[in-house]
Amino acid sequence: MPSVYIKTYGCQMNERDSEQVAATFLAGGYSLAESEAGADVVLINTCSVREKAELKALGKMGMLCSQSGERPWVVFGFMGCMAQSKARELFDAVPRLDVVTGTHCYHRVFQLCDGLLKQRLASVSHPILRRGAQLCEVEDLPDAHSRIRDHLPLRTSCSAYVSIMQGCEMRCSYCIVPFTRGAERSRSAADILDEVRRLVDSGVKEVTLLGQIVNRYGREEPVIDGRGGFVRLLEAVHEVTGLERIRFTSPHPIGFREDLVRAFSYLPKLCSHIHFPMQSGSDRILQLMRRPYRQQKYVELCEAMRAARPDLAITTDIIVGFPGETEEDYLLTKAAVEHIKFDNAFIFQYSPRRGTPAADMPGQVCLREKEARNHDLLDTVNRIAIARNMALVGTRQEILVDGPSKTNSSRLQGRTSQNKPVIIERGAARVGELLPITIRECTGFTLYGEA
Ligand code: 5AD
Ligand code: SF4
Repeated sequence: MPSVYIKTYGCQMNERDSEQVAATFLAGGYSLAESEAGADVVLINTCSVREKAELKALGKMGMLCSQSGERPWVVFGFMGCMAQSKARELFDAVPRLDVVTGTHCYHRVFQLCDGLLKQRLASVSHPILRRGAQLCEVEDLPDAHSRIRDHLPLRTSCSAYVSIMQGCEMRCSYCIVPFTRGAERSRSAADILDEVRRLVDSGVKEVTLLGQIVNRYGREEPVIDGRGGFVRLLEAVHEVTGLERIRFTSPHPIGFREDLVRAFSYLPKLCSHIHFPMQSGSDRILQLMRRPYRQQKYVELCEAMRAARPDLAITTDIIVGFPGETEEDYLLTKAAVEHIKFDNAFIFQYSPRRGTPAADMPGQVCLREKEARNHDLLDTVNRIAIARNMALVGTRQEILVDGPSKTNSSRLQGRTSQNKPVIIERGAARVGELLPITIRECTGFTLYGEA
């Protein structure tokens, strides 16, 4: 039986896409390899959001290809955002590469790779192997989702991602996503609910609804009794019997209306965590970033959500060193972090992306300054995050048991509603179980609980 190995970089959307592609390979009679070592098809699902992520994927592929001498039939492919934006360039960068598939044609990855592998295995006695160089950029077929869905569920764990929309039309000036993921399009609620029910039937307890701007889901639909398309979707998913937890990521302040804030007060399955990208605490920088809201609006939304759900954990994304960011702008961001008290934050040094407006803006910040702001902000973020974790010691929480602890397999790990990982002794706990526990100890970012 041939096998496929998929390495995924980047966001949850990519993880979800890798799962979909893996499902098509499984349906085609492949097994999933645990590592690249013995695999017949090796795919790297790439992220373009920052240059670092691209370099990592290129480096990894270069290394894998250079080690493939004894197994010349192996098919190597790039998929995902970098594949979409760099396309043919990748064949020049990695000559041994066979397949590049953009974000619009995941449903064809299997067909391309499998075809190539079969040709090669049939002609392996020939001195010269056919070179791959298959490029696929065709538009998404409207029913791609439903066709792939027939092979789901793939995840055996108790938590799954469900893509509810694709693409983004916000065109933040730093971001390459609108170029790699295309226009915004929502899936039908019936399709989504069907998938959620299937997942629940297979043992899934928690779903995370995914979209580039998830709260813009169904925005063309009418507002009924004060609730827009996205909140009505949340309510419908909430009705699914057997589903215990709902998460969504990532929302944007634009289109984040009162109905979504209220949802936290009456939908108990909606978890007490939101990842809510802030990007900057300076109105001037938000404007340059083409984020069409003011910092004050962001803060008000956080406060309103905490009023609706007092134990809500808020995490965020912040970019430091955006072109034109002065020390004063940076200090506004730092002050916002102190004020909002995030449970955690991902800090990114601005990375110019070819073709995006910010890449050509004046006032590019030098690397040293970006690094200094990054380190300084990280200290603040960590101090607050640790204090918030410490405050949980002694509290009762409910965790969904995920699996063995990554650092010590004799223990189990679960996540609270706030999405904080908690380590517990194995005892009688089972994976997939919702377990009431008491937090006994906190060592900064790790919480230890007792059933
Ligand atoms: N440089 C640095 N960070 C970026 N992000 C997106 N584009 C860039 C860029 N060009 C960050 C944003 C986004 C997260 C996924 O990545 O903070 O929310
Ligand atoms: Fe990129 Fe902005 Fe769209 Fe997020 S909202 S994907 S940062 S363009």
